[in-house]
Amino acid sequence: MKNKKIKLILNCDTGIDDAVALLLAVKSEKFDIKLITTDVGNVDPKKAAKNTNNILELIDAPNIRVCQGNGKCFKKERARAAVHGNGGLGEYEFEPNDRVVDGTDAVEAMYETLNASDEKITILSLSPLSNLAKLITKYPTVVSKIEKLVFMAGSTEQVPNGEMPYPEFNVSCDPEAAEAIFSSGIKLEVVPMEMGHTAYLDWQDVFNTKIQNYAGSVLEVVFRSYKDRHVKNGIATHDGCAVAYLTNPEIFKIEPVNIAVQYFESIKSGVMVMDFNAEPNAITCTEIDIKKFKKLYYNALKKCK
Ligand code: RIB
Ligand code: CA
Repeated sequence: MKNKKIKLILNCDTGIDDAVALLLAVKSEKFDIKLITTDVGNVDPKKAAKNTNNILELIDAPNIRVCQGNGKCFKKERARAAVHGNGGLGEYEFEPNDRVVDGTDAVEAMYETLNASDEKITILSLSPLSNLAKLITKYPTVVSKIEKLVFMAGSTEQVPNGEMPYPEFNVSCDPEAAEAIFSSGIKLEVVPMEMGHTAYLDWQDVFNTKIQNYAGSVLEVVFRSYKDRHVKNGIATHDGCAVAYLTNPEIFKIEPVNIAVQYFESIKSGVMVMDFNAEPNAITCTEIDIKKFKKLYYNALKKCK
């Protein structure tokens, strides 16, 4: 049915663009968010869980179960940059609130939620795929309960053979996890970093955010902490684009693609390589309507207090 809500598990590493994603996801009213889990990534999952609850409170979200991961990569730990500040949302001090982090481990909570559901559940991942790789390794049968995985990762940047595509963080932070997911048989839909670099919020948007309402005045301070060096005059909206891909796929150009992980000694890690000429195993988006994305953003922001 047209208006049926999408049953969703949201895996994130709340960070600044994850906050944009939470705003768009909650205010779209298109999701029945069963669970939010925090993963390896921008900050440790404990901090990401607290950040997630702070954003949910700020945007007046309904109560949603939040569970933190164990913070360990699937196979091998790798260095992480503080692009989102040490706190993950810059250093902003949020008002205290009553939201709690459930004590169940994220992977166990994912398994419980998927197992208990009488319908398949869509998973939206906005972080490295560590929790998900652990989930399908420990509970392989649960793959049949996953409708599809929409995830922010990688780069469509085409580079001459043998050269390295840009090492996008959600893959290069845990490439072994990405490899496990890419070969899992789960339906894969990937939103690469070019979307968030194209549909970035410029400084005028950030100022408009500040003067929109209280929530906007907080988000503006958080946004100014973002250090994604690809976007010079504003903030990238990577994870927000992944939500928009689920709520409004019509604002994207969508194409089949072959995705794989390739390791490069120079970075002692792996990156996602995208081949539009090989046998497809995923779909991706190659263009985004900036104006329509920003309309989704402002519509969501205006629903805040
Ligand atoms: O490379 C961008 C991705 O890495 C985003 O999800 C950002 O939040 C970080 O997790
Ligand atoms: Ca993220």
